[in-house]
Amino acid sequence: MATMPRLMQPGPRTLNRLPVDVDARPYERFDVHPVTPYIGAEITGVELAGTIDDELADELRRALREWKVIFFRDQHALTPERQLEFAKLWGEPETNPFFPTGDSVTVSRLAKDAQAIGTENLWHSDHSFLAAPAKCSVLRAIEIPPTGGDTIWTDMSAVYDNLRADIKERIEGRIGIHDWIQSWGALMTPERKAELRKTMPQVKHPVIARHPETGRKLLYVNEPFTTEIIGIPAEENAALLEYLVLQARIPEYQVRFRWEPNSVAVWDNIATQHYAVNDYYPQRRVMERVAIAGVPLH
Ligand code: SIN
Repeated sequence: MATMPRLMQPGPRTLNRLPVDVDARPYERFDVHPVTPYIGAEITGVELAGTIDDELADELRRALREWKVIFFRDQHALTPERQLEFAKLWGEPETNPFFPTGDSVTVSRLAKDAQAIGTENLWHSDHSFLAAPAKCSVLRAIEIPPTGGDTIWTDMSAVYDNLRADIKERIEGRIGIHDWIQSWGALMTPERKAELRKTMPQVKHPVIARHPETGRKLLYVNEPFTTEIIGIPAEENAALLEYLVLQARIPEYQVRFRWEPNSVAVWDNIATQHYAVNDYYPQRRVMERVAIAGVPLH
């Protein structure tokens, strides 16, 4: 049984980072302003509701591959319909089976206030309870409290790169079980849970996955949905899983975004996990999200 190290060693520490997979070519169609050295960049000079030709689409996809989460501000013309069109640059939209939908079919509205408390304040990857987890998500801010309500993303390749060698060895080639029952299921009646279970079984994903496009190794376990690592004895399983999911909390791997109305974030949902900070209760915060269907992970 591996002994769990502390999350990070105290004192000065150099992160073990592979170089960011940034292409040397300049961007031709917009400006890219990195928010941290490794994850997150603000893009200026693009109107997301305008015409997006092939060259612009390629550059936007490249920016997401390189920076893992990209931010846009002042996208006043972006309606739910245009948001859906924009999101299709990355693939086919899919609806979270547990979200109420907004006006348009696959745009999910996340409206929080004194009656509806934010529940996305835990580190997660969207739809990891599906056999093919969402590839990316496009989130648009509709109403934002005067302060608070930020979202944080963490770079799961950086997490993997910095795991201790014996932990990497312990989880190499292992498979994790992902399930919605203990998180979303906790909010349902037993009857509803049993009904949904018929079409939504537990699913399996590699604990160390390779990113489908970049091939980068990344840690693919998350707090609400990963329940077990197959083949690890029960007494070690919980401790190892807890240690792994807690890695997402290390600030050195993260980027934090302060929203304004009409800000948009697009994130790579395999390369990152995210956390919606719930420090604004009981104020109102309304967001609309489109998730894009992904592929099974290897
Ligand atoms: C989500 O967890 O997908 C929503 C994130 C947010 O509301 O900031």
